[in-house]
Amino acid sequence: MTVLAPAQGYALWAPTYSVETAVSALDASVVASLDVPLRDKRVLDVGCGIARRLVSAREAGASMALGIDLTPAMLAQARGEPLLAAADARALPVADGAFDVVWCRLVLGHLPALEPAYRELARACAPDGVVLVTDFHPAAAAAGHRRTFRDEGGELHELENHVHDVDAHRSAAARAGLSLHERCDGEVGETIRDFYARAGKLDAYEQQLGLPLVLAMLFAREE
Ligand SMILES: C[S@@+](CC[C@H](N)C(=O)[O-])C[C@H]1O[C@@H](n2cnc3c(N)ncnc32)[C@H](O)[C@@H]1O
Repeated sequence: MTVLAPAQGYALWAPTYSVETAVSALDASVVASLDVPLRDKRVLDVGCGIARRLVSAREAGASMALGIDLTPAMLAQARGEPLLAAADARALPVADGAFDVVWCRLVLGHLPALEPAYRELARACAPDGVVLVTDFHPAAAAAGHRRTFRDEGGELHELENHVHDVDAHRSAAARAGLSLHERCDGEVGETIRDFYARAGKLDAYEQQLGLPLVLAMLFAREE
């Protein structure tokens, strides 16, 4: 199987991306557990993909929700979302401090270096705002999990993933002026049992119980 660069991979995945996976379901669950208030907040979703999480931000009362993604084919699937832009996480087309909540969910593993993205996430964040990052968990990569998907024709592909451990995230964020306030792991467990059941992989589920698949970190701007 060839390993695809993000722009190429997500262009292929875009038509079927709305189907949730075990990883995306865990991402949603750990972000919910961090319980960041969204009411009346300006939310920026960096690497928003098809913008499905922006819908939940608007439903939670965000006063404004902007999605930015590198892959135009992903944005093209974001039907009904008014505020979207195609851009790179490392060069965000937004004003300094313009957002109260900055999300970057399941994106940074696609970047070889973290610091340029963290600099931009920090720059976009208001002085009393927060930055919420999730990533494919380093423990999952170490256990042999890969970021794979099937295209519309059913062919399996692997996406390029760079493993960044918690310390790498923490220090890149600190150099950008962000301090880590909370961290949470999304682990194989009841929340995602159905994904294994539907794939006929309950044996693997039992073996992997407790394995973290998603790393979530909540940062705030340093004073
Ligand atoms: C796993 S998807 C996550 C999408 C969305 N955050 C979600 O949770 O549904 C990763 C997304 O990151 C985007 N991406 C990858 N590299 C990027 C970059 N350098 N700048 C902006 N977006 C990027 C991809 O196009 C893709 O839509």
